[in-house]
Amino acid sequence: MKKISHIGIAVNDLQKSCELFSKLLNKDFHTEHVSSESVTTAFFKMGESKIELISSDQDDSAITKYLKKHKEGMHHLAIDVDNIQNEIHRLKKEGFRFLNETPKIGADNKLIVFLHPKDTNGVLVEICQSR
Ligand code: CO
Repeated sequence: MKKISHIGIAVNDLQKSCELFSKLLNKDFHTEHVSSESVTTAFFKMGESKIELISSDQDDSAITKYLKKHKEGMHHLAIDVDNIQNEIHRLKKEGFRFLNETPKIGADNKLIVFLHPKDTNGVLVEICQSR
């Protein structure tokens, strides 16, 4: 594993949260629609890492369900790796379970998989590799 890629925060209103976080961080951001997840995200670059705001585009998306259950707040921790297939193989051997074992195309031009939070102290962990 290489470094923290980003920290994901689930928000109800992306525009309002972008205004808030650009004031807080004093940084620019760029937004992106991610069709594989039915979400729109905004990334704020913070040195080597980023903060990702995530809002839902659809009533039946995973983020809508998450927001209904947990409200707004920290959603996931994402870790950059060089070779996602090698890491999936290694983590499976270590006994970790995945929400999706086949990498999906995520935001920020990355291939991503999520680990099952029950195996990671309740933290939703995203593993990602730049494409
Ligand atoms: Co993410």
